[in-house]
Amino acid sequence: MLPEYKDGVLSWGGVNLEKIAQEYGTPLFAFSADVFSRRIKLVSESAKYPHLLCFSMKSNNNYHLLNEVRLAGAGVDVVSYGEFFIAQRCGIDPKKIVFSGVGKSDYEITQVNNSGILLLNIESESEYRFVKKLFSEVGLNFGISFRVKFELSLDRLHPYLGVGKKDSKFGISEEVAFELYEDAVKSNLPVEGLHFHIGSQIKDLEIFYEVSKSALNFVEKLEKEVGVKLRYVDVGGGLGLDYENLTEPPIDRYTDAFKVLADAGYKIIFELGRFISAPAGVLITKVLRKKKREGLKNFLVVDAGMTELLRIPLYKAYHKVIPVRDGVAKEKFDIVGPICENSDYILQDVFLADVEEGEFLCVLYAGAYTSTMLMNYNGRPFPAEVVIKDGKTTLARERGKWEDLIPRPN
Ligand code: LLP
Repeated sequence: MLPEYKDGVLSWGGVNLEKIAQEYGTPLFAFSADVFSRRIKLVSESAKYPHLLCFSMKSNNNYHLLNEVRLAGAGVDVVSYGEFFIAQRCGIDPKKIVFSGVGKSDYEITQVNNSGILLLNIESESEYRFVKKLFSEVGLNFGISFRVKFELSLDRLHPYLGVGKKDSKFGISEEVAFELYEDAVKSNLPVEGLHFHIGSQIKDLEIFYEVSKSALNFVEKLEKEVGVKLRYVDVGGGLGLDYENLTEPPIDRYTDAFKVLADAGYKIIFELGRFISAPAGVLITKVLRKKKREGLKNFLVVDAGMTELLRIPLYKAYHKVIPVRDGVAKEKFDIVGPICENSDYILQDVFLADVEEGEFLCVLYAGAYTSTMLMNYNGRPFPAEVVIKDGKTTLARERGKWEDLIPRPN
């Protein structure tokens, strides 16, 4: 699944990564459609109960990868009209699209209502009032569900990535959600689902069992007291990865967490992003300069940085880096980007083979929350993206042009 050395050079899915770095230039995102589609399959085969995988597009919205989503018969989770627009262009079935997000505008809700989608995950009383108005004026072309924040102790999660906490901006408390469900049922709205998403990069799978139990209590109470039996429980995403050891999380243990809900007759919707896309991408970067500071630090200044890997300064995230040409690790380096910020590093204090200027490094697990979080800071055009499938490479996004840096060139 990961790139491997072949005759001393990294190769992925039959493609020589040094060659594509030379051909397309760096920094370069390379995504493997083969790995991506295999990971979709891992989820589908593991969940042996009725379910729909709605891949979380915010982790990666590459057109070719979304095509794999479509071919697998899966859907997507979108958080904006922009993502919905891309999904539509890729031919994703609207009835396999769920729309989440704390700040959907009236325009965005109206637009998806015009096309029709599977579920709108409502995140506030105000959003509900707008949906109710839309229902009375033109009718609804989606089922509704509410994103509920269950009373769980989530202090175990990363402060930025644990979003299901009581005081977070996301979702609605159980109490308020229950009242909204009551009102929606009374008003004959198409009440179809329950949604939760407790956070991202979760490695303690016990939390998923806990939230699943809370959700079951909630839907059972809804059935008993409000007389509504929902069709879907959308369990969000969040399954974390080990970016250091690159070992696979126990997917069966993850999907098993929601079996109680499936056994109770609910179709499970997964909004997994990272689990599917992170291992399906690498970022190839070139060593621009070597700086030796005797007794202090050795730097490898490379041509990628926080503009491509914002998640490193944002979360102090770790990404493993290996040289594209194999060698014996002998010196300690700080791999740093070219951006004028102290926090612009990729990896610190890493033992690496003594790579030369002009040689390439490969950042692993770079397929999630990287190319969707790009920025032009320091006047840097967006990098190119290639997709590897069946031993062939396709240019999926051209490198940004200098002109792109000027909003209205004349
Ligand atoms: N569903 C909802 C409503 C979400 O907000 C998210 C991620 C997902 C699904 C997918 O979660 P996943 O399976 O990928 O963990 N930029 C951060 C991650 C932010 C996640 C935001 N929401 C990072 O680089 O780690």
